[in-house]
Amino acid sequence: MNTPVTSSSLFTDLKSRIEARQARVGIIGMGYVGLPLALLYSEQKFPVTGFDIDRKKVDTLTSGGSYIFRISPEEIQSAKTSGFNATADYARIREMDAIVICVPTPLNEYHEPDLSFITNTAHAVAPHLRAGQIVILESTTYPGTTEEVLVPILEKENRGGLLASRKGAATEREFWVAFSPEREDPGNTAVARHDIPKVIGGLDPQASQIAGALYGSIFRRTVPVSSPAAAEMTKLLENIYRCVNIALVNELKLLCLRMDLNIWEIIDAAATKPFGFHPFYPGPGLGGHCIPVDPFYLSWKAKEFDFHTRFIELAGELNTAMPYHVIASTMGALNRHKKAINGSRILVLGIAYKKDIDDLRESPALTIIELLQKEGAEVSYHDPYFPFVGRGRKYDLQMTRASLDNLGQYDCVLIVTDHSDYDYKKIVNEAKLVVDSRNATRGITSDKIVHC
Ligand SMILES: NC(=O)c1ccc[n+]([C@@H]2O[C@H](COP(=O)([O-])OP(=O)(O)OC[C@H]3O[C@@H](n4cnc5c(N)ncnc54)[C@H](O)[C@@H]3O)[C@@H](O)[C@H]2O)c1
Repeated sequence: MNTPVTSSSLFTDLKSRIEARQARVGIIGMGYVGLPLALLYSEQKFPVTGFDIDRKKVDTLTSGGSYIFRISPEEIQSAKTSGFNATADYARIREMDAIVICVPTPLNEYHEPDLSFITNTAHAVAPHLRAGQIVILESTTYPGTTEEVLVPILEKENRGGLLASRKGAATEREFWVAFSPEREDPGNTAVARHDIPKVIGGLDPQASQIAGALYGSIFRRTVPVSSPAAAEMTKLLENIYRCVNIALVNELKLLCLRMDLNIWEIIDAAATKPFGFHPFYPGPGLGGHCIPVDPFYLSWKAKEFDFHTRFIELAGELNTAMPYHVIASTMGALNRHKKAINGSRILVLGIAYKKDIDDLRESPALTIIELLQKEGAEVSYHDPYFPFVGRGRKYDLQMTRASLDNLGQYDCVLIVTDHSDYDYKKIVNEAKLVVDSRNATRGITSDKIVHC
């Protein structure tokens, strides 16, 4: 005799499948967030399927390759032997027990949230949903997205009349929903991924418990909050805190330059205070998928509540001005060498958005290269992670990496990203002029160095 399917049997079944590492985990979006997450679940012996609409990524993973610098092909191959596989076929969503969405959340050209990747994913998942699955959104977004955008599409477009589990939902026809933000810090090797606590907000207590069990099997600590919106807001608070504090030190750097003070020396001294101070560092502008983008998700949403997020706007203004400051400093430095920027040969050193990573997204180096070219400079670049820069969302540079030989041929070497691999002493020795936007040349004394 068949036991009737009830909410509680679905719940206990999924929880015990998670505990036994038998729950099938489907991760949508095999990018910087989704792929490492898939590997974490695979290491813990969960059967994992990666979903991506980018066929090249699916093919690379299927053939045991990698397209992310810090993930070796050997890691993919070892995951494959434990059952990891990749697909572009959404029909396979039905086979999954847990579906984790890690798709991009950029801004559109008007600086407004572009949720199209989330909505496209929801449209694609919905027809294959079945009762007893959990859907978790990890993409950074404004508070309310999970409940106001994701859930309505999943509920409306599934084929079984299923509802997201809230208190009192039709029990045997439900799926669970949660939001759990990604907190990765690319390039940071000091904190292991599983040591980063995972914040979780379920749509109902069961969703929180299931998501907690799932993440609890790969992260040492989970942090439940009361709702998906609270988890969404937690992530934004973290990134806005960074964005505002970086803007503050960027502004103070500009003042210190005028006062002939070294902001880095001052930050290092302040950081010796054992309480109440956390160091942030100035730079040539914000980069990456998160800090320049996420705060504007909140300022957009805030308008719905007649609320203006002034700190976010001010920080955005200050941080956006930094590449222009770098150009002005480079012009000034060349001027002191009796050179106009127009016609000068400039080598931009480092184009990744931060050191030791292979990520170009929103990198200030791209803006700086474009601005230098607009001023008539002859620009080359070097970055160990990028042999070529083609077309991106906002730029089309089509440049090939220059060599580091014969740095004396350039009128100026402009340090934009302070990769650890560079021998800065040698660079300063060989270059005619070095403009340093990162304090990469700390400890080196030379008239050729201009800090900016
Ligand atoms: N990269 C980070 O360090 C980081 C850190 C914290 C949070 N986040 C957030 O995580 C989310 C993902 O970021 P990411 O850096 O991994 O992006 P990414 O661009 O590296 O990867 C996203 C992947 O999703 C795929 N994709 C897009 N639409 C799809 C669809 N409909 N179905 C299946 N696959 C689809 C893309 O092809 C791509 O491979 C974003 O919201 C981002 O803000 C990123």
